[in-house]
This record gives sequence, C-alpha cells and structure tokens, in this order.
Amino acid sequence: MIFDILTLFPGMFDGAFSDSIIKRAVEKGLVSIGIHNIRDYSDDARHQSVDDYPYGGDAGMLMKPEPLANAIRASRERLAGKNPLVVYMTPAGRLLNQNVVKELAEKESLILLCGRYKGIDQRVTDNYVDMEVSVGDYVLSGGEIPAMAVVDAVTRLIPGVLGNMDSAETDSFHSGLLSHPHYTRPEVFEGISVPEVLLSGHHANIRKWQHQKSLEITRVRRPDLLTAENI
Ligand code: ADE
Repeated sequence: MIFDILTLFPGMFDGAFSDSIIKRAVEKGLVSIGIHNIRDYSDDARHQSVDDYPYGGDAGMLMKPEPLANAIRASRERLAGKNPLVVYMTPAGRLLNQNVVKELAEKESLILLCGRYKGIDQRVTDNYVDMEVSVGDYVLSGGEIPAMAVVDAVTRLIPGVLGNMDSAETDSFHSGLLSHPHYTRPEVFEGISVPEVLLSGHHANIRKWQHQKSLEITRVRRPDLLTAENI
C-alpha cells in the first residue's frame, strides 16, 4: 500500500509514523508513506498563497483550487499504474468505520487530501476527489489527524503487518462487535480476580465466554452494531 498525503502542515506528521507497527510496516516494505506540502504546488510563486475568500461572503477562508489540483495531479503521476483513490478528509464525509477501512485497505494506493480553513473549493471535490471521509461527528482543525487515523487503521489490515502477537482478530469490530474484556497477570489485582474460565485452559469455553462478553458489551454500549450475522 502506498499512501501519498497532501497537507499544508507536513511537520505534523513528524513522529506520527516513526514508531511501532507503522514503522515496522514501512521497514518491511509493506507500506510506503509520502508527505507532500500543498504550498509547493501554488501557482503564485512569489507569495505561495493557498487560501482565498469564499464567494458569498461567509466568514473564514477556503483552500484555493489551483494548488490542490496541481498537488493531486502530481501525486497521481507519482502513483501512475497504482490506481490511486483520492480521499478528502472532511467532517462532511462518509463516517469512517471498520468496513470503510477494509474497503480502503483493498486499494493499491491512497491519496489523502487534508483540508484546512473552511475547506476546499467544491470544484476540486467535483473533479478530483473519489471519496470523502470523516473520522467522527466533531470538527478538528484540519484533515491531518484524520489522515493519520486512516493510515494507522488501514496499515493494520495489510497482510504481514500484524504478527500473531497483535493480531487483528481480537480487535474490536473484527467480527462487527466490540471486543471482550482482556486480562493479564497477576491473577488477583486490587481484589479483583481474573475470571475463572480464562484460567481453565478449556479453549471452547473460553471462546464462548469471550463471544458472550462481546455481545453483552455491544448490546449495552453500541446496540446499533448488532446484526443478524454477528449475534
Ligand atoms: N477535518 C476536520 N474535522 C474532520 C473530521 N471530523 N473528519 C475528517 N476530516 C476533518
């Protein structure tokens, strides 16, 4: 998987991908991540301006279309032959969930466009964007943190990225349900014991208990996730 991230704040990504699972995935050559400054694609060489006032007189600024279009075209050239999907991070987009993550993980490459200010000129969306994605019903200062969330969630699903140790199979949402509670040593902590069944070594009973707990937690916290398939 190749990620090409287009942003006005490339410095925000310093460190975000330099540890743990993503770092290992990059080192193994399973993913590659390019970070590109949209300002470098400004058509105004002197001031490198990237924003302008919105028609209609709303408060705030918009990202101008020309630098965005230039940046996306350049990204598509870099990813020629890799079928890139252009994803614009916006609170008005499709709500990110594990199904959307799975869909994105099947692509060969993703161009993640990070908005700033009040957003981008609609004509860029019309002509260049394949999918709009939101990470939740709240407003962040820009698309950078949402793009990091997409890179992280998608990378976990690339074959070979997760070893047995941190397998996706025990993640919440893997089966469409929230994950069951987890315990490690010691057997008794601050007066609370690890549930007996987990110490029994009886794998079928353990699976049954875990599924039951997943169902209980999902029923209480996220009944909207329960479907005929996962009950
Ligand atoms: N940009 C600002 N807020 C956002 C959100 N919730 N999701 C995606 N992009 C955003």
